[in-house]
Amino acid sequence: MAANKKLLMLPGDGIGPEVMGEVRRVVEWMDARRHVSFDIEDDLVGGAAYEVHKTSLADETMDKAMNVDAVMLGAVGGPQWDNVARDARPEAGLLRLRKEMDLFANLRPATCMPALAEASSLKNELVSGLDIMIVRELTSGTYFGQPKGMQTYEGQERCVDTTAYTHDEIERVVRAAFDLAIKRGKKLHSVEKANVMETGVFWRKIATEVGKDYPEVELEHMYADNCAMQLVRAPKQFDVIVTDNLFGDVLSDCAAMLTGSLGMLPSASLGAADESGRRRALYEPVHGSAPDIAGESKANPLATLLSFAMCLRYSFDMSDDAAMVEKACANVLDVGYRTGDIMQDGMTLVSTQQMGEKVCEELNKLAA
Ligand code: IPM
Ligand code: MG
Repeated sequence: MAANKKLLMLPGDGIGPEVMGEVRRVVEWMDARRHVSFDIEDDLVGGAAYEVHKTSLADETMDKAMNVDAVMLGAVGGPQWDNVARDARPEAGLLRLRKEMDLFANLRPATCMPALAEASSLKNELVSGLDIMIVRELTSGTYFGQPKGMQTYEGQERCVDTTAYTHDEIERVVRAAFDLAIKRGKKLHSVEKANVMETGVFWRKIATEVGKDYPEVELEHMYADNCAMQLVRAPKQFDVIVTDNLFGDVLSDCAAMLTGSLGMLPSASLGAADESGRRRALYEPVHGSAPDIAGESKANPLATLLSFAMCLRYSFDMSDDAAMVEKACANVLDVGYRTGDIMQDGMTLVSTQQMGEKVCEELNKLAA
């Protein structure tokens, strides 16, 4: 039962390798203390892959990703690759993984751990206990729509991005969001700009149709700009939010900051389940590669550790272990350990590695 859980680790760039190192520490802990082993393969993505292959995701890496149970990704990107051609840029590797693995449902929880409510840019009472789940469509919309790029129009240069959605692309992600809402607070906000965008009108219509299958869930439609405003005004009104690729990118950063630090937020990107119930999946922190602090042991590994917890829950059906990792992360904060990004007066500043060690110490206590 325990063996053959196939995991592909793609640490990527910047702080990616450091935070992924702490996942490895927890994996080793699980092996030693819980007798759960993973078959782990490592590979390159992003700028790290570009340096070796002149592309940010080699075909053989893509093949590996298609054939494992789950992919754990660190972060991609950095200023040294700013002038690389678009299709070889670090971000392109990540987008290719999302697209070819067909990871249409991107789950971005924004939860505020009580110990960090003070670190939020909003007042404590607005965010303490916050628990929002943003479901972002990840394989279509403005990111992938065609045509895309430069054109000549009325004798001058023009640049185009296209926002396009098929019926099924909207339906499947909205359904995924309803399925989550039913297990949570039974409230779903479907977010678009139906006042301006045709894709928004279409999105709203489909969300309403799908909603008929979920009478227990309260569905509310909201314009994306209003949603951004409501997120900083009264974030606790939200339970689950479902939205398109571009709005989801923006709103999830906004929600992330409510929780005190971008360094705290995990994400799961899930595909459709096959007949055996297996679904492709990729887990990554919401934060980026933070090149300014890379290699300095300052990065906060908690978002990546919490992403690993999501991996245990959604790919390996190990909710107890997932809950234990989440609890260990919360406990470490409760006793006062902080990386630089969430440092507060009176707390103890620790390095990336020390934070990982502290999490394992808490895991020891929880497992005892
Ligand atoms: C994210 C990131 C990516 C995105 C970048 C790195 C391509 O911002 O995962 O939110 O825009 O989707
Ligand atoms: Mg983003």
